[in-house]
Amino acid sequence: MCKLYYLFILVSISFITDASPTSNPNTGVFWQITDIHYDFNYSRFGNPGKLCHQSKTTNSTRSVGLFGNYKCDSPWTLVTTAIDGMKAINAKPDFILWTGDSMSHVSDNQSSLLKVYLTIRNVSNLIHSAFPNVSVFPVLGNHDPYPSNNMPIGSNYYEKIISMSGWKQFLGKSEQEQFMKGGFYVSTVVTGIRVIGLNTNLLYSKNPLVQGHKDPSNQFAWLIKQLEDAKSKGLKVYIISHIPPGAFERTSLKIKWFYPEYNQPYLDILRRYSDVILAQFYGHGHTDSFRILYNKTGYPINALYLSPAVTPWKSSLPGTGSNNPALRLYYYNRNTGQVLDYVQYFLNLTKANLEKKPVWEVEYHATKAYSIPDISAQSLNKVTKTFHRSSPTFELYFKYNSVSHGVQETCDTNCYYIQYCAIVNLDFNDFDRCIFWRGTMPHPAHHRSTIHHHHHKTKSPPDYAFYVIGGLALVVLILALIVGCLCLGRHNQNAGYKYGKFVGPVN
Ligand SMILES: *[C@@H]1O[C@H](CO)[C@@H](O)[C@H](O)[C@H]1NC(C)=O
Ligand SMILES: *[C@@H]1O[C@H](CO)[C@@H](O)[C@H](O)[C@H]1NC(C)=O
Ligand SMILES: *[C@@H]1O[C@H](CO)[C@@H](O)[C@H](O)[C@H]1NC(C)=O
Ligand SMILES: [Zn+2]
Ligand SMILES: [Zn+2]
Repeated sequence: MCKLYYLFILVSISFITDASPTSNPNTGVFWQITDIHYDFNYSRFGNPGKLCHQSKTTNSTRSVGLFGNYKCDSPWTLVTTAIDGMKAINAKPDFILWTGDSMSHVSDNQSSLLKVYLTIRNVSNLIHSAFPNVSVFPVLGNHDPYPSNNMPIGSNYYEKIISMSGWKQFLGKSEQEQFMKGGFYVSTVVTGIRVIGLNTNLLYSKNPLVQGHKDPSNQFAWLIKQLEDAKSKGLKVYIISHIPPGAFERTSLKIKWFYPEYNQPYLDILRRYSDVILAQFYGHGHTDSFRILYNKTGYPINALYLSPAVTPWKSSLPGTGSNNPALRLYYYNRNTGQVLDYVQYFLNLTKANLEKKPVWEVEYHATKAYSIPDISAQSLNKVTKTFHRSSPTFELYFKYNSVSHGVQETCDTNCYYIQYCAIVNLDFNDFDRCIFWRGTMPHPAHHRSTIHHHHHKTKSPPDYAFYVIGGLALVVLILALIVGCLCLGRHNQNAGYKYGKFVGPVN
């Protein structure tokens, strides 16, 4: 079965021709830029241990980077070179998706609401002046309110983002009115295709302001209404937002972004309207990844594209590290809205600083790198079927995951399963089970696959094995607990790592 499957892959690869989408008049392009994290306190002679801020006591003259530093957020030179790079590569995209987090990772006591508004305004004005005639669809990130993560329900904050941070330039009258109610809106991309800009920061588990709310700012209800409306009119929809559902793929902490009571209803809506939703675009993780949404019978029904960040900032999450600054250009069919491909661009920050010259290079073309005809959920699903800890496709994916920065890093078994399980399991329980079972029961496709999708099946144990192995594991666990209690009896140790213990800014 497995061998046959690889044969199938080989055969399909050999039929993929280099159909460069640019030559087709129906093919349009659009940019996604995300997680700029502009820090106006970045100093070329600053301290990389302190976000490259200049310390008052030491007066260093050693440059830590003209275009930025892997431990710090973006200086203005990096922000401008990113926008210049977009313009130089493609100055006439059909539209631009800007998926949040413009503010730096400085602690809240060094910031203020006014600083946040002005920081976002600087970026808004820069984008608008570089692309005066291009539609820009912005959404807020968890670092864009103040204090960070505190995305409010009903507040004049949203009004101020429009009036003080320059989003008047991007949103029409009716979009502005909707945005003021909770930071989300619907707009039109091209004829027949709408974009729904969401505020998933309201679902973020680090947001203390939404606790006790079943549907913060009535966003779920509003979203369902929009999707119903699009469906009844035969329109298609792109969903854009800052924080994606599911878990983060690049940290040993196995962080899940949303509160569990929000993750499930959100996924339920995505599944229910997967025929209306063409694609989804997110940021926040700073890494280059994707997610596949499966229906209940295990068939891939939607792709979530997770674009890497402009900021190279080294995350405080264990295992995450830094990334090269990134920009992404998508290709899509203007008639159907189908997203066909993307080109990932990056700035080699080491090289840019050495040569004092910023050059935005192509990192990879998605369809070429992964040998797939398009970047649909079905095609990406096929890519994940070739993933093993040291399979060439996974190694490639892992290299791109840090925008070719962590090339010297290897992904051990733990790292691999967190990556793989996060990509194919957006449901928290499925993700946990996948990690526990080391990918042998990764998602519904593997144990509830129907006859129609046999070629999607990889070797997985029969269902009863799950309970047999589970029972054995339980026995071993109980034995281990007994032994553990006996051994550790007199060491009054702390109970290991806890998510709640983690402090500091997260992406
Ligand atoms: C950041 O820069 C501003 C002036 O541009 C200065 O007033 C402020 O003290 C700086 N903050 C930090 C934390 O260095
Ligand atoms: C933008 O559009 C206006 C009016 O359609 C036109 O006059 C102007 O030249 C355009 N600017 C650019 C940079 O394309
Ligand atoms: C970035 O540039 C440095 C210095 O020129 C080089 O050693 C490194 O291989 C480059 N990295 C990539 C991903 O191109
Ligand atoms: Zn974020
Ligand atoms: Zn971010």
